[in-house]
Amino acid sequence: MEIRIEKTQTPKTKPGKGADLPFGHIFTDHMFIMDYDDGQGWHDARIVPFGPISMHPGSTILHYGAGAFEGLKAYRKADGTCQLFRPSENAKRMEKSVDRLCLPHIDAATVLEAIETFVTFEQDWVPSDPGTSLYIRPFEFGCDEPIGLHGIKKAKFMIITCPVGNYYKEGLKPVKIAIEEHDVRAIRGGTGDCKVGGNYAASNRAEHVAEENGFTQVLWLDGVHQKYIEEVGSMNVMFKINGEVITPKLTGSVLPGITRKSAIEFLTSKGYKVTERLISAEEVVDAVKNGTLEEAWGTGTAAVVSPIGVLHYEGVDYKINNNEIGEVCHTLYEGLTGIQWGRTEDTFGWTVPIKKN
Ligand code: COI
Repeated sequence: MEIRIEKTQTPKTKPGKGADLPFGHIFTDHMFIMDYDDGQGWHDARIVPFGPISMHPGSTILHYGAGAFEGLKAYRKADGTCQLFRPSENAKRMEKSVDRLCLPHIDAATVLEAIETFVTFEQDWVPSDPGTSLYIRPFEFGCDEPIGLHGIKKAKFMIITCPVGNYYKEGLKPVKIAIEEHDVRAIRGGTGDCKVGGNYAASNRAEHVAEENGFTQVLWLDGVHQKYIEEVGSMNVMFKINGEVITPKLTGSVLPGITRKSAIEFLTSKGYKVTERLISAEEVVDAVKNGTLEEAWGTGTAAVVSPIGVLHYEGVDYKINNNEIGEVCHTLYEGLTGIQWGRTEDTFGWTVPIKKN
């Protein structure tokens, strides 16, 4: 891919050591853009100064939500070099998400090349404080102007990046999660297993109510029976019951999280029994009541590995592991973050080094 580069003439001051990096608030100096139209296909790949883009008010994304995105991170190692974590998994999922929405197809290989090239260019923005990283947000959206419903013939693919700290203000302290009993996020056959904006738009109301009531996020139940646990707003979920780690299976309405997949592979390699199956809210609550629910946590790129200290269901707060981080959650956190930040050897082959400029 040929990429035109236009450097900013007004570089921003990068956040220094110890700076507060609230998730998604600070943007780097540049962004990646590439256009699509039916005649030319993908063209005019460019890295340009970060800033507003101009859009026709009829653009498909604005009316019909035709947009898909990804989230991954670049990490700075102690030796000063940077690396990505499983970027080809994000690229593959992006390809699947855009195909599901019938957005112009983009190959995983093209997405990967764009991510690697852009992060190499912007690598001075990867922060170095413990627990910080550069969050990378690739996205594609439909730009057709006629507002009738029709196939999408114009689109943009972009990447923006943000130096970030913790996603949750709680950091590694356990979060409070409410099981959502009314709204549903997704149903099988819909787009729940893709990373598309509509899933998050459908989640907004319940997330807002939960926050108003003092919870960090909601835990979604399946859209058919409103019985089986699916995922939390920004992460997949895992429970340790009677020594066994259980995570909702990928039924078609659950996001196939890359941190989820890595957690399963990591824990299995350490000898833990990990089972992917249907698990109901009732089963989890019963396990709390009979003392067999030992731990619960979420996994996600933004959230990393986040212990769950309280689950709220049918008006009752259920405390998990005395609202403390459990042993398996801690092992998983240390294991994955150790590989991501290069503190421990990557025996899985998950990391991809970024070449120095
Ligand atoms: C991510 O973890 O990368 C996500 O996209 C979740 C988002 C809600 C921040």
